[in-house]
Amino acid sequence: MRYLVFAANWKMNIGPLEARYYLRSFLDAGPLPAGREVWFFPPAVSLEAVAQSIKSREQLLVGAQDIYWEPKGPYTGAISGPLASQAGARAVLVGHSERRHVFGETDEQTGKKMAAASAADLQPVLCVGETLEQREAGQTLAVVTRQLEAAFAGRPRSGRVTVAYEPVWAIGTGRNATPRDAAEVHTAIRAWMGAHKVGETRVLYGGSVNLKNAAELLAEPEIDGVLVGGASLDPHTWAELVRTGAT
Ligand code: 13P
Repeated sequence: MRYLVFAANWKMNIGPLEARYYLRSFLDAGPLPAGREVWFFPPAVSLEAVAQSIKSREQLLVGAQDIYWEPKGPYTGAISGPLASQAGARAVLVGHSERRHVFGETDEQTGKKMAAASAADLQPVLCVGETLEQREAGQTLAVVTRQLEAAFAGRPRSGRVTVAYEPVWAIGTGRNATPRDAAEVHTAIRAWMGAHKVGETRVLYGGSVNLKNAAELLAEPEIDGVLVGGASLDPHTWAELVRTGAT
């Protein structure tokens, strides 16, 4: 059976109380089709509320949007892998485009975060992707390869790893990559991961995925799932996307 991941990145939206209402509506929509997993990445303050709402339902998982690489200490405003884990997280996004481009996170820092995720036993979801300028200059695969190299430089190569290809120009713009464009990059990511023996890899696509385009994207065999921002914020839309996003 083909396994698909539907990952919701709520970004800086949905507090703890709203998260409990959200999950109630989402779960009320009924059981999930077999072979689908739904992952939620709420803001840190809502991790525990989501973890409690989904309990230990097999097809559901909650993760942090970001962690700092030190396990504890005087780092005001940051959360560590062990803290995220205590709040119920089982996974973490690393190197999301907004961390890189809004907060100035470097490739080297994503490498440290990958190692920290591993140390805290959180499944990393490494986000990679090129800017429009880089795509137009024909640098897409070079950029993605550089991001993979930096991210896996210090990480023990084993276990399950997920990579999300999220072209920067497609995030929040309403302009998604075509299934073919995404497939080309996914194939390159898989080849790199295979050559470097990184372990079992799933490759998700993210960037303006919505109810209208999810099925077309997921019909592409190279796409193992989607990482969704805007279209995951409403529980009804998200419940529908998870059910109708693939046949
Ligand atoms: P949108 O789905 O809003 O384009 O965001 C994509 C994203 O950044 C998911 O991590």
